[in-house]
Amino acid sequence: MQRKINFNAGPARLPLEVLEEAAKAVLEYKDTGMSILELPHRSKEFLDIINESEALVKELCGLSDDYEVLWLQGGGRLQFCMIPMNFLSDRDAAGYIDSGHWSEEALEYAVHYGDVQILESSKETNYDRLPDWPTDIPEQLAYVHITTNNTIFGTQWHNIPGTSSPLIADMSSDIFSRSHDYSKYSLFYAAVQKNLGTPGTALVVVRKDMFKRRARLVPPMLNYGAQAEQHSILNTANVFGVYTSLLMLRWIKAKGINVIERENAQKAKLLYDAIDSSKLFFPHVKVKEHRSLMNVCFTAINPEVEKAFHALCGQHSITGIKGHRSVGGFRASLYNAVSLTDVEFLVRVMKEFEATTKG
Ligand SMILES: Cc1ncc(COP(=O)(O)O)c(C=O)c1O
Repeated sequence: MQRKINFNAGPARLPLEVLEEAAKAVLEYKDTGMSILELPHRSKEFLDIINESEALVKELCGLSDDYEVLWLQGGGRLQFCMIPMNFLSDRDAAGYIDSGHWSEEALEYAVHYGDVQILESSKETNYDRLPDWPTDIPEQLAYVHITTNNTIFGTQWHNIPGTSSPLIADMSSDIFSRSHDYSKYSLFYAAVQKNLGTPGTALVVVRKDMFKRRARLVPPMLNYGAQAEQHSILNTANVFGVYTSLLMLRWIKAKGINVIERENAQKAKLLYDAIDSSKLFFPHVKVKEHRSLMNVCFTAINPEVEKAFHALCGQHSITGIKGHRSVGGFRASLYNAVSLTDVEFLVRVMKEFEATTKG
């Protein structure tokens, strides 16, 4: 099979060696005489998978046993509702920093449960920059919610101050892409289909003291404390999904976060430099310090040029480069499994296109 050069925003490219290992396990997991797809979720083998993955998350994040690691179903969006359900009572307010579609969607879920204050927003400029970090965050909010990387608009927080209220972060599209101080968060979560596995699962890391904050009675499946007590196997767990995430965690550890961070910076610089020096392509995010190293969004000078470049990408087996409809143009997602060679190839195709195209 000729693998495509895949710049999709998620589900996204996975490393070939992870796919090969997962494929082997689909035929037989270890020496069990069973496929990983048949493996009981209460087996010793799955418990080992859960335990190793929890330990690896804590190790990679530099976190102590004050934190609980959960693998929950329902992807990113279920976290949009579990967070306010568990922590925002109808007598409290939560603060949301609105830096893009996903932060906005997260706060739209929260309004069902309590008062929501938008602390800052960059919606007015179609999220082509980060909002200012709020200077006067009210004391005693139930929590402050941020999205560390804005997948659709291509902005990313590179400097995140602490907050006096519990800080909660959606890290779906940049978890494990850089070294980071995870200890400033009371809870962070990631839909895993970008840097960490296959869709449907969310990694949730929560500081144990948050379990005491119970905004209301919440049924066990949606209750962080109950999920933690049951070690993420309250119901029939997504065995294959968690296993794939474990393979990704092993891959990240073997490569090293520092190496990953350096490569991600190199990949993003290469592509942004090509866009900045182009006469045909323009960056969506002009403020360089606000740019995402994960999702590079850009537009073309006119619709004909856009169409022609899309067609050329298709001819070169480049896929997943169409921008989200709210920005248009192009988006190249440069997650951890996208190599420098992939980005060099894309830049070469862009330059060849420029040499033969009139704007
Ligand atoms: C930052 C961010 N948060 C949340 C989501 C939603 O995840 P899901 O589709 O798993 O609900 C996405 C999806 O792309 C995302 O990029």
